[in-house]
Amino acid sequence: MRFSDRLPAKTEPSRRPNTVSDRLKAGLDGAALLLLARRALRLDAIAQCTVDEGWVDVKLAAKSRAPVSSSRTRTWPALSRMLEEQEAHSLVGEDHSSTAAALQPLPAGSSLAAARVDDRTVIIAGRRGRFTAQDLRDLQLTATASGLVRRNQDLLADLRRGARVSSDTVRALKLRNRQQHAIAELGLMASSGGSEEQLIEMAVDQVADVLRVEFVKVIEAMPGGRTARVRAGIGWPEGVVGSDISMADIPQAALAMETNRSAVVRNIQTDRRFKPSRFLIEHGIVSGISSVIRGKTAPFGELGVHSPRLRRFSRDDVNFVRAMANTLAEAITARRAETELRSSLQALHRTAEERHRLMRRLVDAVEEERKRIAGDVHDDYLQVLAAVTLRLGVLARQIRDPARKEMIGGLAQTVETASNRLRGLIFELRADALQDGLAAALRSYLAEIWEGGPVTWSVNDEKLTDDPPPDLRLVAYRICQEAISNVRKHSGASRMAITLANVDGGLLAGIADNGAGFDAKAHLRPQPGHLGLVAMRERAELASGWLRVKSRIGKGSNVEFWIPFEAVPEPPMPRPEARRARQRKRNRAESAID
Ligand SMILES: Nc1ncnc2c1ncn2[C@@H]1O[C@H](COP(=O)(O)OP(=O)(O)O)[C@@H](O)[C@H]1O
Ligand SMILES: [Mg+2]
Repeated sequence: MRFSDRLPAKTEPSRRPNTVSDRLKAGLDGAALLLLARRALRLDAIAQCTVDEGWVDVKLAAKSRAPVSSSRTRTWPALSRMLEEQEAHSLVGEDHSSTAAALQPLPAGSSLAAARVDDRTVIIAGRRGRFTAQDLRDLQLTATASGLVRRNQDLLADLRRGARVSSDTVRALKLRNRQQHAIAELGLMASSGGSEEQLIEMAVDQVADVLRVEFVKVIEAMPGGRTARVRAGIGWPEGVVGSDISMADIPQAALAMETNRSAVVRNIQTDRRFKPSRFLIEHGIVSGISSVIRGKTAPFGELGVHSPRLRRFSRDDVNFVRAMANTLAEAITARRAETELRSSLQALHRTAEERHRLMRRLVDAVEEERKRIAGDVHDDYLQVLAAVTLRLGVLARQIRDPARKEMIGGLAQTVETASNRLRGLIFELRADALQDGLAAALRSYLAEIWEGGPVTWSVNDEKLTDDPPPDLRLVAYRICQEAISNVRKHSGASRMAITLANVDGGLLAGIADNGAGFDAKAHLRPQPGHLGLVAMRERAELASGWLRVKSRIGKGSNVEFWIPFEAVPEPPMPRPEARRARQRKRNRAESAID
């Protein structure tokens, strides 16, 4: 019985594979992969170009219902440069008309990108919009998968043709399948929210398992670049995982990180590129693959597999380690960006809280001082004046001379005026009416200062359903008071209107007059002796809000301020739930691909 007879007959799968990983697991062919990538990455065209002695075989999936077409054309210079690039990249700044021609028909003004499959093959893609970093990573994943798939296909073709296959070939075929699974699995773990630690552990386990290699490690470069920490590992004696090693001791990893690509070593002991290293000799390491794990700006570290045997790693093995390192890199970068965002949000929150505390202390201190002065005025000065009034009364009764009597009467009148003014001052200093709400306090204040006075005023609080909490009520009251005092002192207005409303989780207040108007910009900068406006704005800003003044000469003025009731919203919680929701959405989107 020939080997091919034992292969399962080609049957229709019970469920059509829809997601990328499903298709990978189902062992999809190269053309299907191109079509899948074209749809999944929303490309206008994608082609796989294989260079062969001056000629290029182009397998093209263009935007139409048509299947993948094949053609042959002369090679062009930009193509050989694409074959040298290790990672997917956008094609810009060079004459890419030949590249675009290979993707014909492509809409005018399209962007182009390329990703290397192997020494001779590159995938190029075109689309109307730009390629984002994520698109490029997906394109690279497609290219890597395409390399694996293609080699599988070659083998399967051999098998179907009934070619005699050695047990080595069967083993290689199985190995490739396991590699594809491992990459798909790590990718799934990354998108379903595994932690950095879990992802690293999983990568190490999978690589050790698939390649059946004695030593595997993931190292992370430490700041300064001289040492690296072993984050996870298999096969090493106790104490290695978790420790820091000098970069000089792991020259192969150093090379991978320096050149930003994989370093493959057949025998490190005789390889002229490296100096002998204590660490490697100690563990008897001979062969290995080191793949860089890229970071946001500098490399994150290395994924290394090592064997104490003289072992020849195949191109598949190298591609597999690289694909695992790339998947890991992408996941780690995403996790770290998320953590960074969260901690800066927390820092922001802390600063806001700090400001809030500071403001409360400031407000409290000022209010304390005001209360103290009001108390002194009441208990001391007013009492003294009351005593003076009393004595003047006694004196007036003892005196008969009408002229003198009148003089004393005038004196008593003056003392009375002074007392009234002091009572007004107490009223100004204290904000007792605030217990009844901001609007009530303002009305009582205005009634007091403009009782039948020259200014017609109004307080509109129809849209204020929630009064500010007590400390912010005081802040708002003091700002309004200052604005009112400006209207009183400087505007010459005949009308003033105050509006209070709940807006965006806070208080929006406006104090408008129809008076003389002024150059607000100039007065919002501190000027000696005039600190009212500046202090108003500072109070609003300390409460995490803002204050604006709109005024034109002869057209009146409008002071507007907003203060939030909550200083800064809480930073969002860690978001595994949100991530899972995104994943569900993505799965749905992928299932939509037929
Ligand atoms: N409502 C207003 N109408 C006209 N001018 C105003 C008004 N508010 C403020 N100003 C002008 O802005 C200047 C600065 O005001 P402010 O900072 O409160 O200091 P001060 O009241 O002590 O002069 C005032 O001197 C006045 O010229
Ligand atoms: Mg003022």
